[in-house]
Amino acid sequence: MSEKIKITIDGKECETVAGEYVLNVARANGIFIPAICYLTNCSPTLACRICLVEADGKQVYACNAKAKDGMSIVTLTENIIKERRAIMEVYDVNHPLECGVCDQSGECELQNYTLEMKVDQQHYAIRDTYRPVKHWNFIHYDSSLCIVCERCVTVCKDMIGDAALKTVPRGGDKLDKSWKEQMPKDAYAMWNKLQKSIIGAVAGEQLDCTWCGECISVCPVGALVSEDYHYTTNSWELTKIPAACAHCSAACHLYYETKHTSIENPEPKIYRVTNEFHYQPLCGAGRFGFDFENRAKKDEEAFDKALEAFEKADTIRFDSYITNEEALILQKLKEHKGYRLINEDALRLKKFMDNYAAYSGQSLYSADIKSIHESQFVVSIGTALKSDNPRVRYAFNNAVKMNKGGGLYFHPIKDPIIESLGKTVVPVYHEPLKEEAALYFLLQEFGDKEKLPKYILEYLNSLKVTKTREEEVEITEKVVEVVEETVVDKKTGKEKKVQKKVTKEVPKKVKKPVEYEVSALYEMLGVSEDIMEKLKKVLAKAEKFTLILGEDLYTHPRAENLAKLAGLIDRFTDFEVMIIPPKTNSLGVALICDLDEEAGEYTIGYNAKGDFVLSALGDGDLDMPALNQQEGTFTNIDKRVVPTNVALPYEGYVLNDLAKALGVSDKEYTIEFTKELPQEKGYKPIEFDDLPNRFLNDGTEERGYRLQSKKVNLSRKNIEPIAQLPEFNGTVIYRCEPVLQFSPFTNKAHQLASKGKLYASETFLKEMGLEEGNKVNIQKDDITITVEVELDDKIGSGAYIGTFDPSVGAESLFEGYRFTEVKLQKV
Ligand code: SF4
Ligand code: SF4
Ligand code: FES
Repeated sequence: MSEKIKITIDGKECETVAGEYVLNVARANGIFIPAICYLTNCSPTLACRICLVEADGKQVYACNAKAKDGMSIVTLTENIIKERRAIMEVYDVNHPLECGVCDQSGECELQNYTLEMKVDQQHYAIRDTYRPVKHWNFIHYDSSLCIVCERCVTVCKDMIGDAALKTVPRGGDKLDKSWKEQMPKDAYAMWNKLQKSIIGAVAGEQLDCTWCGECISVCPVGALVSEDYHYTTNSWELTKIPAACAHCSAACHLYYETKHTSIENPEPKIYRVTNEFHYQPLCGAGRFGFDFENRAKKDEEAFDKALEAFEKADTIRFDSYITNEEALILQKLKEHKGYRLINEDALRLKKFMDNYAAYSGQSLYSADIKSIHESQFVVSIGTALKSDNPRVRYAFNNAVKMNKGGGLYFHPIKDPIIESLGKTVVPVYHEPLKEEAALYFLLQEFGDKEKLPKYILEYLNSLKVTKTREEEVEITEKVVEVVEETVVDKKTGKEKKVQKKVTKEVPKKVKKPVEYEVSALYEMLGVSEDIMEKLKKVLAKAEKFTLILGEDLYTHPRAENLAKLAGLIDRFTDFEVMIIPPKTNSLGVALICDLDEEAGEYTIGYNAKGDFVLSALGDGDLDMPALNQQEGTFTNIDKRVVPTNVALPYEGYVLNDLAKALGVSDKEYTIEFTKELPQEKGYKPIEFDDLPNRFLNDGTEERGYRLQSKKVNLSRKNIEPIAQLPEFNGTVIYRCEPVLQFSPFTNKAHQLASKGKLYASETFLKEMGLEEGNKVNIQKDDITITVEVELDDKIGSGAYIGTFDPSVGAESLFEGYRFTEVKLQKV
């Protein structure tokens, strides 16, 4: 733990920890220091130099000066004022005069700091150079507006992990040497650098990345904007609606930004999504997949039919793209009307968490995304992290980059993006169904051998096998040498040569078979035996460890045993454990609803198949609002109850209307259920309108509240050893969404809409004799689906198919576990 210290900034005493950057200390204490290039949780680049301050009388940059006990900081001196003003004048040199139409106008840091530094005249000039516009898929880069602060480069490398951007030569004129004498030192140095570079794609002309759009978000000027948003509105016309992203269980904080559609159409529409990039990044699905609303009106006839269907039904099947309040309404419908509640993904998660709890002693898993950010060692098992949960992947990358950390990534599919996180992240590409061995491996390598249950130790010992390897060893050998000696014959007195055998000891290097012990787990997983040696350096410095577990585990035929092992890891290793909920509110549903195993005879489907379907996608028998049209809360991956708000109006019926008509709800609005969420599960009796939804200056997240984990009685039953499962030996495919997709809701958004395909690595295409664009029949038992094949060069092996496009019918190929063996035939 870092030591607590005190520094003073402009006379104000500030408490912090040793080594924190002065800029962050100032921000946490409400003291303003201008800063352009620095991004919280990323490395300082010193590109802008505007954050100059005086530390104990010496000029330093606040974004990279580390706080020391007793340090005294002054944020304004005559020289600093001069430097900052000159820096802003330089930034304004040749900056195009297009504020009137620029997308950033009104929220531009160049505008703001130009005013802040009171720039009212220009002392500097140089010939401008042509700087072209680039069209990079979702991203529009206007290099003439770019101030080369490098925030885009930094965030892509340190936060996101794609490292897809870099500075490239600008071809600008050289600065006249005379400027050096005439202008403040830092402003000159900044200008010199500015003339030399511009931003380019690492891959060449085109940008090759996972399209999170975080570079757009962090750009302080209008250089990087979304192509879709470009020139559609002025920022000050937009209404910012704070909400939680509805696409995955990270439920990231975001703002839907809305305005009327056009002069003729007063209906509001979402123009863009923004995020508080200093505190939370956002993935591309959240940023670009915002218009998935269901613009429906009240259809009384359909509503009456829905009531009739509810009278007939004995089952409600639903997915986890609903709020906690809706989950509570469904639970009440069950309690009052006896419906069975079917939600496979949440039920699997619930069972996994229950088994985990029985061996960890805690009702909720221990880690959150912040734990990953703070870790020096992170392990991921059972998740295609890049697409399953981008926020978790960003946190993993950030931990590696900022904490000089490392980790292990266990998964059957090779992922070059994960491999590029750093040399200290070692991928273990094991066979499908070997996840049980991966968890035992963690107990073997990281378990506290003093405290682990005896039967586990015995089992781990039983897995040790004796192997021999040819090793070069130095031995001393006795060799007999024949030496000649000259002796004098006593009788004759003559010298004569005699041969004599002498035994000598000589050192010698030989290859010999050497016996050693190794756990059979290494072979089961295909882990190289020197893996721990490779990680030795990182592990020696690691203080915080996080284990990330994903959906491959909850759907695994041995899920129960895997969950128990995860509980043991939580208790007997240094790892805090995170269980990624598979869909946006799977955790909320798992906690709030008593879910059933088997459906009955007549099913109401809510965003799911049924005899009568309620649908927020607008393709059912009665319309429901999409999650960007609802007020309510989600229980996210951080076990946090986060509020979301209405971005777009909805004029149809909602679930609460049905519950009211069925005599189950007496509430006018759905959010009246927020304070009634089950307290025995850790929820608090807080009104929706009283939930905070913000970040503090020091980065503290104040969104809703955290669920309290409860103590759980520990199970005394032994955990089973690794089961021998039948191995796959044919063509295996994986159930996984491509990057930017999560569900039919992301696929409804106009920027993301695409046809579902079979996404295959180059190796898979070669092995199967396929080419991109080919059609294939995929057959599993008596089900056959036909899809087009697309190359995914961001996977290094295997193939996967997603469920975001229901017309493909991919779900029918899988029984639970995310890998399945199929027959594949080119059409
Ligand atoms: S594109 Fe924007 S974020 Fe990137 S260097 Fe230029 S001004 Fe900075
Ligand atoms: S979209 Fe994301 S991954 Fe792509 S360049 Fe920008 S920050 Fe990097
Ligand atoms: S913010 Fe410190 S140098 Fe840019």
